[in-house]
Amino acid sequence: MTVALTAATGQLGRLVVDALLERLGTERGLESAAVVVAVVRDPAKAADLAERGVTVRVASYEDGVAMEAALAGVDRLLLISGSDVGQRAKQHATVIDAAVAAGVGHITYTSVLGATSSTLPVAPDHRDTEAHLAVIGVPATLLRNGWYHENYVSTVDTARHTGVVLTSVHEGRVASATRADYAQAAAVVLTTPVAELDDVYELSGDVAWTQEDLAAAVTELIGSPVTVARVTPQEQTATLIQVGLDADTAAFVVAIDAATDRGDLAIRTGALARLIGHPTTSLVDGLRPLA
Ligand SMILES: NC(=O)c1ccc[n+]([C@@H]2O[C@H](COP(=O)([O-])OP(=O)(O)OC[C@H]3O[C@@H](n4cnc5c(N)ncnc54)[C@H](OP(=O)(O)O)[C@@H]3O)[C@@H](O)[C@H]2O)c1
Repeated sequence: MTVALTAATGQLGRLVVDALLERLGTERGLESAAVVVAVVRDPAKAADLAERGVTVRVASYEDGVAMEAALAGVDRLLLISGSDVGQRAKQHATVIDAAVAAGVGHITYTSVLGATSSTLPVAPDHRDTEAHLAVIGVPATLLRNGWYHENYVSTVDTARHTGVVLTSVHEGRVASATRADYAQAAAVVLTTPVAELDDVYELSGDVAWTQEDLAAAVTELIGSPVTVARVTPQEQTATLIQVGLDADTAAFVVAIDAATDRGDLAIRTGALARLIGHPTTSLVDGLRPLA
């Protein structure tokens, strides 16, 4: 079986490659590194993957012709969502249509937790991509990934200077997990027979933490006390702009906090731990190597 993944030079993609290669030769593992096809837009960034025996092919999400060629002979594809929020649905549709044209037998897509009802600003692109996958006639599996622990590295860095976690979240919890946990789940899904897969996996961490829990984790990591500074969305916007964010990015961050407060990142089904076969990494353990 040949398995391709897009965004193989991204942070999640690299971890998926690692997880696939770690499973070589195991009961459900792939037969060799060469049957892992890393589809990348910049081959220079993938030189290390080629050195490890991975097959590297070049195509961007905008180039359907190159993508169809890159996916020739591929049985299963992991489409990792792109980073151009607002533009991605069109890019993903180009990749999906190319996969169909190339005869790919199954597509796995990294969506967002609770995509159907999520109010996160990143959710509409994912909903559009899920809708496209529903009508192509090729079986698909949705990995609706929750937040990464790694999203909070900047919180740790800021707290070192300010001693606070600045947030407009009140009660909303976050069931985050490491990129590595999500990557391992993707590798498991890619190497599981299609007939055994669910259509949708809502993936998130085992623990749904509060802002106070986040402050406690940061306190442990930096070794000095950190408290929660709860502000209104307007105050948060003003502070973020004051420290150098542009207005759109500040609005994006504040919208994420609003969605967090509505519980959009708190969904827990236990599916991530079940897929990877062990508990998800704790927030403090996930951030420790990066703090
Ligand atoms: N769950 C979360 O908390 C969370 C947080 C952030 C992002 N995400 C989503 O999860 C995805 C993977 O996360 P990540 O941490 O691996 O992100 P990342 O490190 O920023 O990687 C994004 C990847 O997408 C590739 N890419 C972007 N636009 C592309 C295009 N037009 N054509 C081809 N490739 C393109 C990039 O290629 P290059 O390597 O060439 O740049 C890169 O490999 C992100 O793209 C985003 O959709 C989720």
